[in-house]
Amino acid sequence: MNRALDMISLRVLPVSARFSMPDFATGATRFDEQRSFPEAIGAELRDIVLARVPGGPQAWLLETGIGTGRIAAPFAAAGCRYTGLDSSPAMLARCRGRFGKAAGPRADLVLGDMRRLPFPDGRFDAVLAASVYRVAAPWQMAAAEASRVLARPGVICLMKHVVASGSMEHVLAERKREILASLGAGRYPEGGASDEEVAGFFAERGATVERIETAAWNTTATPRACLARYLRGSRVAITPYAEPLRRELEAFAVKQYASLDIEEEVARTMRVLIIGLAARS
Ligand SMILES: C[S@@+](CC[C@H](N)C(=O)[O-])C[C@H]1O[C@@H](n2cnc3c(N)ncnc32)[C@H](O)[C@@H]1O
Repeated sequence: MNRALDMISLRVLPVSARFSMPDFATGATRFDEQRSFPEAIGAELRDIVLARVPGGPQAWLLETGIGTGRIAAPFAAAGCRYTGLDSSPAMLARCRGRFGKAAGPRADLVLGDMRRLPFPDGRFDAVLAASVYRVAAPWQMAAAEASRVLARPGVICLMKHVVASGSMEHVLAERKREILASLGAGRYPEGGASDEEVAGFFAERGATVERIETAAWNTTATPRACLARYLRGSRVAITPYAEPLRRELEAFAVKQYASLDIEEEVARTMRVLIIGLAARS
Protein backbone atom coordinates (compact mmCIF):
# COMPACT_ATOMS: atom_id res chain seq x y z
CA MET A 1 0.00 0.00 0.00
CA ASN A 2 2.53 2.54 1.08
CA ARG A 3 4.72 1.71 -1.89
CA ALA A 4 2.01 3.32 -4.03
CA LEU A 5 2.08 6.40 -1.82
CA ASP A 6 5.86 6.47 -1.71
CA MET A 7 5.98 6.41 -5.50
CA ILE A 8 4.13 9.71 -5.85
CA SER A 9 6.93 11.65 -7.44
CA LEU A 10 7.23 15.38 -7.20
CA ARG A 11 9.22 15.38 -10.41
CA VAL A 12 6.15 14.41 -12.45
CA LEU A 13 4.11 17.22 -10.93
CA PRO A 14 5.96 20.41 -11.84
CA VAL A 15 4.62 23.73 -10.61
CA SER A 16 3.57 25.54 -13.74
CA ALA A 17 2.98 29.22 -14.20
CA ARG A 18 -0.79 28.69 -14.51
CA PHE A 19 -1.00 27.66 -10.86
CA SER A 20 -1.17 31.07 -9.26
CA MET A 21 -1.00 31.44 -5.47
CA PRO A 22 -3.79 33.39 -3.80
CA ASP A 23 -2.63 36.36 -1.80
CA PHE A 24 -3.55 36.09 1.88
CA ALA A 25 -1.86 39.36 2.83
CA THR A 26 -5.12 41.30 2.44
CA GLY A 27 -7.12 38.89 4.59
CA ALA A 28 -4.61 38.27 7.35
CA THR A 29 -5.84 40.99 9.69
CA ARG A 30 -9.46 39.84 9.53
CA PHE A 31 -8.92 36.12 9.40
CA ASP A 32 -9.41 35.37 13.09
CA GLU A 33 -12.50 37.54 13.30
CA GLN A 34 -14.08 35.58 10.42
CA ARG A 35 -13.00 32.07 11.28
CA SER A 36 -12.83 31.94 15.05
CA PHE A 37 -14.46 29.12 17.02
CA PRO A 38 -15.16 28.71 20.75
CA GLU A 39 -12.25 27.53 22.88
CA ALA A 40 -14.10 24.31 23.66
CA ILE A 41 -14.28 23.48 19.94
CA GLY A 42 -10.52 24.02 19.57
CA ALA A 43 -9.93 21.68 22.50
CA GLU A 44 -12.31 19.10 21.00
CA LEU A 45 -10.47 19.28 17.66
CA ARG A 46 -7.15 18.77 19.44
CA ASP A 47 -8.50 15.75 21.33
CA ILE A 48 -9.97 14.22 18.15
CA VAL A 49 -6.58 14.48 16.46
CA LEU A 50 -4.41 13.37 19.40
CA ALA A 51 -6.60 10.30 19.99
CA ARG A 52 -5.70 9.14 16.48
CA VAL A 53 -2.06 10.14 16.15
CA PRO A 54 0.50 7.45 16.90
CA GLY A 55 2.34 8.78 19.96
CA GLY A 56 -0.65 10.83 21.20
CA PRO A 57 0.39 13.97 23.08
CA GLN A 58 4.11 13.07 22.59
CA ALA A 59 3.73 13.13 18.80
CA TRP A 60 5.39 15.70 16.57
CA LEU A 61 2.78 17.55 14.51
CA LEU A 62 3.14 19.62 11.36
CA GLU A 63 0.45 22.03 10.20
CA THR A 64 0.79 23.12 6.58
CA GLY A 65 -0.84 26.49 5.87
CA ILE A 66 -0.98 27.31 9.60
CA GLY A 67 -2.32 30.80 8.90
CA THR A 68 -2.82 32.79 12.08
CA GLY A 69 -2.55 29.64 14.23
CA ARG A 70 -6.18 29.21 15.34
CA ILE A 71 -5.99 25.40 14.90
CA ALA A 72 -2.52 25.24 16.48
CA ALA A 73 -3.44 27.23 19.61
CA PRO A 74 -5.02 24.41 21.69
CA PHE A 75 -2.21 21.99 20.72
CA ALA A 76 0.46 24.49 21.75
CA ALA A 77 -1.43 25.25 24.99
CA ALA A 78 -1.31 21.53 25.82
CA GLY A 79 2.49 21.48 25.27
CA CYS A 80 2.46 19.45 22.02
CA ARG A 81 5.46 19.53 19.69
CA TYR A 82 4.02 21.60 16.87
CA THR A 83 5.60 22.97 13.71
CA GLY A 84 3.61 25.35 11.51
CA LEU A 85 4.46 26.30 7.95
CA ASP A 86 2.89 29.00 5.78
CA SER A 87 3.81 30.77 2.56
CA SER A 88 2.28 34.10 3.59
CA PRO A 89 4.55 36.39 5.61
CA ALA A 90 1.44 38.37 6.70
CA MET A 91 -0.35 35.29 8.10
CA LEU A 92 2.85 34.06 9.71
CA ALA A 93 3.46 37.47 11.32
CA ARG A 94 0.08 37.22 13.03
CA CYS A 95 0.86 33.67 14.06
CA ARG A 96 4.18 34.81 15.54
CA GLY A 97 2.22 37.31 17.62
CA ARG A 98 0.40 34.32 19.12
CA PHE A 99 3.34 31.95 19.62
CA GLY A 100 6.51 34.03 19.42
CA LYS A 101 6.56 35.19 23.04
CA ALA A 102 9.24 33.97 25.43
CA ALA A 103 6.59 32.73 27.86
CA GLY A 104 3.33 31.01 26.93
CA PRO A 105 2.43 28.42 24.30
CA ARG A 106 5.09 27.65 21.69
CA ALA A 107 5.07 26.47 18.08
CA ASP A 108 7.97 26.41 15.63
CA LEU A 109 7.04 28.58 12.67
CA VAL A 110 8.52 28.24 9.20
CA LEU A 111 7.98 30.41 6.13
CA GLY A 112 7.72 27.93 3.26
CA ASP A 113 5.71 26.18 0.59
CA MET A 114 3.70 23.04 1.37
CA ARG A 115 4.43 21.84 -2.18
CA ARG A 116 8.13 21.67 -1.32
CA LEU A 117 8.42 21.03 2.38
CA PRO A 118 11.83 21.81 3.92
CA PHE A 119 11.75 18.71 6.15
CA PRO A 120 13.27 15.23 5.89
CA ASP A 121 11.25 12.10 5.07
CA GLY A 122 9.20 10.67 7.94
CA ARG A 123 9.80 13.59 10.33
CA PHE A 124 6.23 14.05 11.64
CA ASP A 125 3.63 11.75 13.22
CA ALA A 126 0.75 13.82 11.84
CA VAL A 127 0.28 16.45 9.16
CA LEU A 128 -2.65 18.83 9.66
CA ALA A 129 -4.18 21.14 7.08
CA ALA A 130 -7.29 23.32 7.47
CA SER A 131 -8.93 24.95 4.43
CA VAL A 132 -5.65 24.82 2.53
CA TYR A 133 -5.82 22.24 -0.26
CA ARG A 134 -8.34 24.31 -2.17
CA VAL A 135 -5.69 27.02 -2.53
CA ALA A 136 -2.51 24.92 -2.82
CA ALA A 137 -2.15 24.16 -6.49
CA PRO A 138 -1.33 21.67 -7.83
CA TRP A 139 -2.77 19.99 -4.77
CA GLN A 140 -1.25 16.59 -5.69
CA MET A 141 2.17 18.07 -5.06
CA ALA A 142 1.13 19.20 -1.56
CA ALA A 143 -0.40 15.75 -0.89
CA ALA A 144 2.78 14.00 -2.02
CA GLU A 145 4.86 16.17 0.27
CA ALA A 146 2.54 15.53 3.24
CA SER A 147 2.91 11.82 2.58
CA ARG A 148 6.70 12.08 2.32
CA VAL A 149 7.28 13.88 5.62
CA LEU A 150 4.85 11.61 7.51
CA ALA A 151 6.22 8.78 9.66
CA ARG A 152 4.38 5.46 9.30
CA PRO A 153 1.98 4.72 10.76
CA GLY A 154 0.81 8.30 10.66
CA VAL A 155 -2.22 10.46 9.96
CA ILE A 156 -3.06 13.37 7.73
CA CYS A 157 -5.87 15.47 9.23
CA LEU A 158 -7.88 17.74 6.96
CA MET A 159 -10.14 20.23 8.71
CA LYS A 160 -12.80 22.59 7.52
CA HIS A 161 -15.21 25.05 9.05
CA VAL A 162 -18.70 24.09 7.82
CA VAL A 163 -22.07 25.85 8.14
CA ALA A 164 -25.40 24.03 8.26
CA SER A 165 -26.75 23.10 4.86
CA GLY A 166 -29.69 25.32 3.86
CA SER A 167 -28.68 28.10 6.27
CA MET A 168 -28.43 31.69 5.02
CA GLU A 169 -24.64 31.48 4.92
CA HIS A 170 -24.73 28.24 2.99
CA VAL A 171 -27.31 29.50 0.46
CA LEU A 172 -25.41 32.76 -0.11
CA ALA A 173 -22.07 30.98 -0.41
CA GLU A 174 -23.51 28.63 -3.04
CA ARG A 175 -24.96 31.57 -4.95
CA LYS A 176 -21.61 33.38 -4.69
CA ARG A 177 -19.89 30.40 -6.31
CA GLU A 178 -22.48 30.31 -9.12
CA ILE A 179 -22.12 34.04 -9.77
CA LEU A 180 -18.33 33.86 -9.81
CA ALA A 181 -18.49 30.93 -12.23
CA SER A 182 -20.85 32.89 -14.49
CA LEU A 183 -18.41 35.81 -14.40
CA GLY A 184 -15.65 33.49 -15.56
CA ALA A 185 -13.84 33.38 -12.21
CA GLY A 186 -14.39 29.60 -11.97
CA ARG A 187 -12.50 27.56 -9.47
CA TYR A 188 -9.76 29.54 -7.78
CA PRO A 189 -6.98 28.88 -8.05
CA GLU A 190 -6.97 26.32 -10.83
CA GLY A 191 -5.55 23.09 -9.45
CA GLY A 192 -6.86 23.24 -5.86
CA ALA A 193 -8.97 20.44 -4.33
CA SER A 194 -11.64 19.86 -1.70
CA ASP A 195 -10.71 17.82 1.37
CA GLU A 196 -12.88 14.98 0.00
CA GLU A 197 -10.86 14.89 -3.22
CA VAL A 198 -7.61 14.75 -1.27
CA ALA A 199 -8.96 12.00 1.01
CA GLY A 200 -10.16 10.09 -2.08
CA PHE A 201 -6.69 10.30 -3.58
CA PHE A 202 -5.18 8.67 -0.48
CA ALA A 203 -8.02 6.14 -0.12
CA GLU A 204 -7.40 4.94 -3.69
CA ARG A 205 -3.85 4.21 -2.57
CA GLY A 206 -4.94 2.13 0.42
CA ALA A 207 -5.28 4.71 3.20
CA THR A 208 -8.18 4.63 5.66
CA VAL A 209 -10.45 7.67 5.93
CA GLU A 210 -12.51 8.59 9.00
CA ARG A 211 -14.92 11.53 9.03
CA ILE A 212 -15.68 13.30 12.31
CA GLU A 213 -17.52 16.49 13.25
CA THR A 214 -17.09 18.52 16.40
CA ALA A 215 -20.07 19.69 18.43
CA ALA A 216 -21.98 22.52 16.79
CA TRP A 217 -21.94 26.15 17.88
CA ASN A 218 -24.20 28.99 16.78
CA THR A 219 -23.49 32.44 15.43
CA THR A 220 -25.82 35.12 14.11
CA ALA A 221 -25.64 36.00 10.42
CA THR A 222 -27.20 38.71 8.27
CA PRO A 223 -27.03 38.83 4.47
CA ARG A 224 -25.18 42.15 4.79
CA ALA A 225 -22.45 40.65 6.98
CA CYS A 226 -22.11 37.60 4.68
CA LEU A 227 -21.77 39.81 1.62
CA ALA A 228 -19.21 42.06 3.29
CA ARG A 229 -17.12 39.01 4.19
CA TYR A 230 -17.25 37.52 0.70
CA LEU A 231 -16.23 40.82 -0.84
CA ARG A 232 -13.23 41.09 1.49
CA GLY A 233 -12.15 37.50 0.75
CA SER A 234 -8.82 36.75 -0.94
CA ARG A 235 -10.68 35.36 -3.95
CA VAL A 236 -12.41 38.59 -4.97
CA ALA A 237 -11.25 41.55 -2.88
CA ILE A 238 -8.75 42.91 -5.38
CA THR A 239 -10.23 41.53 -8.60
CA PRO A 240 -12.61 42.96 -11.21
CA TYR A 241 -15.24 40.45 -9.99
CA ALA A 242 -15.90 42.30 -6.73
CA GLU A 243 -18.38 44.86 -8.05
CA PRO A 244 -20.51 42.59 -10.29
CA LEU A 245 -20.53 39.98 -7.51
CA ARG A 246 -21.73 42.57 -4.98
CA ARG A 247 -24.53 43.71 -7.30
CA GLU A 248 -25.82 40.26 -8.18
CA LEU A 249 -25.49 38.77 -4.71
CA GLU A 250 -27.18 41.76 -3.08
CA ALA A 251 -30.13 41.50 -5.49
CA PHE A 252 -30.38 37.76 -4.82
CA ALA A 253 -30.24 38.24 -1.04
CA VAL A 254 -32.95 40.93 -1.05
CA LYS A 255 -35.20 38.69 -3.14
CA GLN A 256 -34.53 35.69 -0.92
CA TYR A 257 -34.63 37.32 2.53
CA ALA A 258 -36.55 40.62 1.96
CA SER A 259 -33.90 42.60 3.87
CA LEU A 260 -30.11 42.61 4.06
CA ASP A 261 -30.36 43.01 7.81
CA ILE A 262 -32.54 40.06 8.70
CA GLU A 263 -30.84 37.94 11.37
CA GLU A 264 -30.51 34.15 11.36
CA GLU A 265 -28.87 31.78 13.81
CA VAL A 266 -26.42 29.59 11.93
CA ALA A 267 -25.10 26.30 13.28
CA ARG A 268 -21.43 25.64 12.52
CA THR A 269 -19.07 22.74 13.10
CA MET A 270 -15.48 21.82 12.33
CA ARG A 271 -15.28 18.75 10.10
CA VAL A 272 -12.20 16.56 10.26
CA LEU A 273 -11.14 13.92 7.74
CA ILE A 274 -8.53 11.64 9.31
CA ILE A 275 -6.46 9.85 6.67
CA GLY A 276 -4.55 6.95 8.16
CA LEU A 277 -1.38 5.65 6.48
CA ALA A 278 -0.30 2.25 7.77
CA ALA A 279 3.21 1.16 8.74
CA ARG A 280 5.56 0.52 5.84
CA SER A 281 5.64 -3.16 4.87
C1 LIG B 1 -7.73 29.78 4.24
S1 LIG B 1 -6.21 30.01 5.05
C2 LIG B 1 -6.31 28.78 6.37
C3 LIG B 1 -5.38 29.06 7.52
C4 LIG B 1 -5.43 28.03 8.65
N1 LIG B 1 -5.17 26.71 8.17
C5 LIG B 1 -6.78 28.05 9.36
O1 LIG B 1 -7.66 27.27 8.99
O2 LIG B 1 -6.94 28.86 10.26
C6 LIG B 1 -5.06 29.22 3.95
C7 LIG B 1 -3.62 29.37 4.42
O3 LIG B 1 -2.81 28.56 3.57
C8 LIG B 1 -1.64 29.29 3.24
N2 LIG B 1 -1.11 28.73 1.97
C9 LIG B 1 -1.67 28.79 0.75
N3 LIG B 1 -0.89 28.16 -0.16
C10 LIG B 1 0.18 27.68 0.54
C11 LIG B 1 1.35 26.96 0.17
N4 LIG B 1 1.55 26.57 -1.11
N5 LIG B 1 2.23 26.64 1.12
C12 LIG B 1 2.03 27.02 2.42
N6 LIG B 1 0.96 27.73 2.82
C13 LIG B 1 0.04 28.06 1.89
C14 LIG B 1 -2.11 30.73 3.16
O4 LIG B 1 -1.05 31.64 3.28
C15 LIG B 1 -3.09 30.80 4.32
O5 LIG B 1 -2.45 31.14 5.52
